[in-house]
Amino acid sequence: MRSDFAGTTAQYYAEFRRDLPADQTDRLVAAAGLRATDVAVDLGCGTGQLAAPLAPHCAAVVAIDPEPDMLAGLRARHAERVVCVLGDDSDLPVLAIPFAAPIGLVTIGNALHWMDERATLGAAAALLRPGGAIAVVTQGPPLWLGPAPWQRTVRSALESLYGPVTGNCRTDRPALDERRETAASLGLGAEVLTWQAAHHVTLDWVLGHLGSALGAEQLTRMDELRDLLRPLAGEDLVEEVTTTVLLARRS
Ligand SMILES: C[S@@+](CC[C@H](N)C(=O)[O-])C[C@H]1O[C@@H](n2cnc3c(N)ncnc32)[C@H](O)[C@@H]1O
Repeated sequence: MRSDFAGTTAQYYAEFRRDLPADQTDRLVAAAGLRATDVAVDLGCGTGQLAAPLAPHCAAVVAIDPEPDMLAGLRARHAERVVCVLGDDSDLPVLAIPFAAPIGLVTIGNALHWMDERATLGAAAALLRPGGAIAVVTQGPPLWLGPAPWQRTVRSALESLYGPVTGNCRTDRPALDERRETAASLGLGAEVLTWQAAHHVTLDWVLGHLGSALGAEQLTRMDELRDLLRPLAGEDLVEEVTTTVLLARRS
């Protein structure tokens, strides 16, 4: 069965989903206490938006995803010290086999909402060396729910083609609070970090980014979407992105 992330979607991901910016990666590494001798696990790695920038900071990243096309996109990046594994959240306990290096960090970027959240956080915590951390990373709200006038134009265009767009991929405050409580109930010390970045984007980039989020059927209407958004061509479009990290640490 075709997953939500196969084929064209994975191709759009590789080109139009940003890596965690370098300065934010540095902050994440410092806050998590990731050591150069640690292994990091990136669950739901996609085409490597966290795995690739993290790899230079540790011994290796084990990048796990159930979608082969996503992993193919990550492999095509030839990122050093990134090992691609076809698997999902249910495979985490298998990693409890002793590695040559300890696991210092498990990252889950924009993906936890696809999993059994409590079971995944519990399994991730069980993998960590003492002092290691889980980083649940979200970038939100999604571009089409942002507050800028051009983002409202994008939202209107999507709604005129596909109906109401409501899903926020659990990038909202109630989801964060719920996850924080789950982490606490698992005996993990939890803190929240937020970072802002402003990205200048073009209409082509916006369309590609939307392509990475649309289903196969919706993608057949890309030409109509492009026509509706044509008024944005040539405008200086700035996307303000908030990165939120729930850092849950094993004592
Ligand atoms: C929105 S993408 C996020 C990609 C990347 N981590 C990022 O930060 O942009 C979600 C990813 O989670 C993967 N995924 C979906 N269900 C999963 C599961 N049960 N276990 C692990 N990964 C899963 C998808 O295949 C997809 O690559």
